[in-house]
Amino acid sequence: MTTFWSTYISVLTIGSLIGLTWLLLSTRKGETPGSTDQTMGHAFDGIEEYDNPLPRWWFWLFVGTLVFAVGYLVLYPGLGNWKGILPGYENGWTGTNEWQKEMERADAKYGPIFAKFAAMPVEEVAKDPQALKMGGRLFASNCAVCHGSDAKGSYGFPNLTDSDWRWGGEAETIKTTIMLGRHGVMPAWSEVIGEQGVADVAAFVLSNLDGRSLPEGTKADAANGEKIFAANCVACHGAEGKGTPAMGAPNLTHPQAFIYGSSFAQLQQTIRYGRQGQMPAQQDIQGNDKVHLLAAYVYSLSQQGDKTSAQ
Ligand code: HEC
Ligand code: HEC
Repeated sequence: MTTFWSTYISVLTIGSLIGLTWLLLSTRKGETPGSTDQTMGHAFDGIEEYDNPLPRWWFWLFVGTLVFAVGYLVLYPGLGNWKGILPGYENGWTGTNEWQKEMERADAKYGPIFAKFAAMPVEEVAKDPQALKMGGRLFASNCAVCHGSDAKGSYGFPNLTDSDWRWGGEAETIKTTIMLGRHGVMPAWSEVIGEQGVADVAAFVLSNLDGRSLPEGTKADAANGEKIFAANCVACHGAEGKGTPAMGAPNLTHPQAFIYGSSFAQLQQTIRYGRQGQMPAQQDIQGNDKVHLLAAYVYSLSQQGDKTSAQ
């Protein structure tokens, strides 16, 4: 803050305090407790005002607030560039400084615990109740927005508790996914195979999924779709359509594995326009030690034998 503004604020604040003190004392009436019969001499709609002194407790309450204000302004930074005489505010009081101090305190307290877990393999960490608690908290504040508080995902966001993995479910692979992020690229096909081709190959994908059938009256040829699939899709999704984790190409034989829906209409939408799922990299946000705990937490969820899915 420039000297001008610092002085401006100080003069205004101290001036107001002095002015208020003067107002309070100068208008103070005699100490006659109880009521008087005198009125102020005016009436509003027949309502008159007695000329009584301020109740004593009220007067002292005012004095109290003034004393508090002075004490506060001496101890804490409040008057322009004045930093207050309390220790710890040498650099001035700012929200950023306070946050940084809090982070330093937290690092000093939790740093060694993070480091201890970071030195263990993810699978081992996943068996430690304290680590899972910490990982669970990190998950709730950083991942639940997308993957849901129960990690079961939703439209566009994969379920992390089942055995279907787009990028692989080994402990170290999960850690890599979280550290570096992932970008799944499913190309758009409408211009390559045409609208009928989209419908045919969608019908073929659908026919590979249990319990799903084409809507009535649909003109789609699953047999032709199979040919299109063999020519265009196996490179990424594999000859049996079971996916290729190295590319993030999902298993197309499990309806639960689909994050963009597995109805005939949704499949066509996906194939026609393509999809671009983005998992944001956490390396620079969380750092290695926290990601290690997150990986352990996610790994533990998928190891609980809970194979139910949100889709
Ligand atoms: C270049 C590799 C590649 C090719 C070729 C490819 N896909 Fe994909 N596909 C992907 C990837 C990667 C994803 C995941 C996209 C995402 O996560 O956002 C995906 C997703 C999908 C999905 C959505 C799954 C879900 O989770 O909802 C369907 C359906 C699909 N592909 C069908 C096909 C069909 C049919 C073809 C052939 C016409 C095809 N794909 C060709 C890579 C490919
Ligand atoms: C902005 C939304 C978003 C946030 C926040 C987010 N994710 Fe993701 N995550 C995604 C999407 C989208 C995918 C799927 C990427 C793809 O299409 O391949 C994904 C994929 C994943 C996968 C791979 C799943 C698989 O099947 O291979 C893991 C593991 C994962 N996320 C963990 C996490 C963790 C842990 C956090 C918290 C640090 C997190 N994510 C935060 C959107 C998010």
